[in-house]
Amino acid sequence: MIRPLLRDDGRPSGWALECAGAEYVVALFHERYLATYHWGGPIRPEPSLEIASAPPQPFGLVEDPSASPFSLNRLPQEYPWGRGGDFRSPAFIADSRVAAFGAAGLSPSGPVLDLEYRSWRILPGAPDIGGLPFLRAETVGLESLELELEDPQSGLALILCYTPVPGTAALLRFARFVNRGSLAIGLSRAFSFSLDLPLPARGLDLVATEGAWATERQVSRRPLGLGRTEIGSRRGLSGHASSPAIILTETGAGETGGKAWGASLLWSGDWILAVEKGEEGTYRLQGGLHPELFSWSLAPGDSFATPAALLAYSETGLNGLSSVFHAVARSLMPPVWRERERPVLLNSWEAAYFDYDEARLLSIARSAAELGVELFVLDDGWFGKRNDDRTSLGDWKENPAKLPGGLARLAEGLHGLGLGFGLWMEPEMVSADSELYRAHPDWCLALPSRLPSEGRNQRVLDLSRAEVAEHVEAQLRSLLGSCPIDYLKWDFNRPLARVGSADPSIAEGELRFRWLRNLYGILGRVAADFPEVLFEGCAGGGGRMDFGMLPFFPQFWASDNTDPVWRLGIQRAASLLFPPLAIGAHVSASPNHQSGRLSSLRTRSLVAMGGIYGFELDPGLLSAAERAALAADIAWYRERRGILQLGELLRLEGRSEWGDVAWAMLAPDRGRAIAFWCRPWHRPGAGSFSLVIEGLPESLLYRVVSPDLPAWSRLLSGAELARRGFEFPLPGPEPGEARALVFELLAQARRD
Ligand code: GLA
Repeated sequence: MIRPLLRDDGRPSGWALECAGAEYVVALFHERYLATYHWGGPIRPEPSLEIASAPPQPFGLVEDPSASPFSLNRLPQEYPWGRGGDFRSPAFIADSRVAAFGAAGLSPSGPVLDLEYRSWRILPGAPDIGGLPFLRAETVGLESLELELEDPQSGLALILCYTPVPGTAALLRFARFVNRGSLAIGLSRAFSFSLDLPLPARGLDLVATEGAWATERQVSRRPLGLGRTEIGSRRGLSGHASSPAIILTETGAGETGGKAWGASLLWSGDWILAVEKGEEGTYRLQGGLHPELFSWSLAPGDSFATPAALLAYSETGLNGLSSVFHAVARSLMPPVWRERERPVLLNSWEAAYFDYDEARLLSIARSAAELGVELFVLDDGWFGKRNDDRTSLGDWKENPAKLPGGLARLAEGLHGLGLGFGLWMEPEMVSADSELYRAHPDWCLALPSRLPSEGRNQRVLDLSRAEVAEHVEAQLRSLLGSCPIDYLKWDFNRPLARVGSADPSIAEGELRFRWLRNLYGILGRVAADFPEVLFEGCAGGGGRMDFGMLPFFPQFWASDNTDPVWRLGIQRAASLLFPPLAIGAHVSASPNHQSGRLSSLRTRSLVAMGGIYGFELDPGLLSAAERAALAADIAWYRERRGILQLGELLRLEGRSEWGDVAWAMLAPDRGRAIAFWCRPWHRPGAGSFSLVIEGLPESLLYRVVSPDLPAWSRLLSGAELARRGFEFPLPGPEPGEARALVFELLAQARRD
């Protein structure tokens, strides 16, 4: 709910945005400035709005010298501009070429400095964000607050937009700029949000991730010191290192306790998120489009909306914060896929790479169907003359040498086996060796008279141009309409660099933004017209896993690394933001193709059950015993996927010095839970271990059993599970060392 905080005379003194379990309060300071008053737990019924933190600063600058002087550098601000008396980083930088400046004998070009508060309004439904990702307009209970400011000299209006996400401790923020002046205004920075957190009683820790292709998202945590800490991507995609997200916790907050603030952008291109500790210990958190790769010229009458940022809050540690992120992630997904159980799939990539024909595919598919797999995905190599990664992207027609009956006959064969048909594509790309490139060499992003840049032997199509975007969309539509396709893996295998458009009207600073906005347009239309197709997002694994893609891709391929030990860390970090429902995880061969590591089939299987369970191997190459074990695992998973895919995730705190990773999935009614425990290194001689699971009703009794420990079971209350946990015997060594066990907790009759 959004509430204006009104004075006796009816004028506003601030606005309170009430979210489930959190509250965001903006104060109007000196009738002119928007100040961050609060972002944390609820402070109902009425915030006092007393801002005592902006007294004039020694050796600082003073605003409003005639009235009641104060220092902007001490004011907690909502969307600050630079080059004034606030010496911290601004949220936007705008330059105006205003006639009035010239007339006054000043430079005709000058910075926009003084925005003054003008008005507020509350609007039902989704606000106008210019076609960028946002919650759907039909989301029940959606309303937005718009606060408008204006620079009287340039005519630049700034509209700050706030939308609480119904039912969660989260809100979306973005900024819209409108040029109401008579001359162009240049934006060289336009963040999605900025806020100044009140001075925390304890210090803050930064929780972020780092990594690269096949080592995505390694969690890193450290206390925040003085200065500015920035994370981001200049790659034109959100990147393997991190989703565009940052988490701050109060010092000492863990998985289950303590305050945590999170911010994540609904954006899939270049980005920056930064936290800056001010001179007096306050923290400014802000972020959005990467300013080094962005500029925008706002013509008179035009408007520009930044991507949205999601702000989430928790008082129950990182698990609490993740449950907020997960709830928002679910509401961003296409409606059809939010609550629907996802199929167990087998992807042909690690099973056959480029080396297959129809007979081989059908033989892999047949053995997969026998195990209980539900969907067969034909990965790279089915089109043009693509027998390696040097050719044919853009030529999305079946290779008759491999598929003499075309995709249609393959789809028919798969459906005949009771399997769905999935297909791989990389729609935004073109190979220099392709019919498409030969016909339209000017259709890819390149700098005229400079060497082209290639990554994985491929170039990026210039989607900022209408005719190129139309061609890509038409190809997708024709493929999806050509035969019954149930799933599409949408890949993106190189970053953007040395980009330019052959269309001279597209300014360099605007190109990357226009490119991605057009891509979102294509994705939105195609996903809406093919709602039953399950799209899986991929960018060389988890290179474009972000909240900007969730409205189109309800699941992502989290990494090209399928090694179970690596996957434990990759999936755990991904779970900070994404629910298991959004994380693709596959069982592959041992030794693993990326790491060379040996591991047991059971360990690979249980780790893959931490996400959307699938396969990336040829079951025909397994022994009969292995096939029987996998068939049992698939049956077990399919019976429980209501909880494993749609339940609530709880990361458990294992012994990290031993590499333990553990988590549980809870049924919404808490009648059932499934817990996983994994240890990558065997400790010879270790006897037993225990797992603590918080969050189950204390008075309920749970029977704990494990298919991995047939002779063992326990009967424990929710209280004991939360405070002492359950002990279990550790299994002995096995090839590859890594071990995984699964436990089922079933509620018994109530005690009272
Ligand atoms: C990328 C993907 C893989 C696979 C290959 C095919 O690397 O991440 O899963 O689809 O492309 O070329």
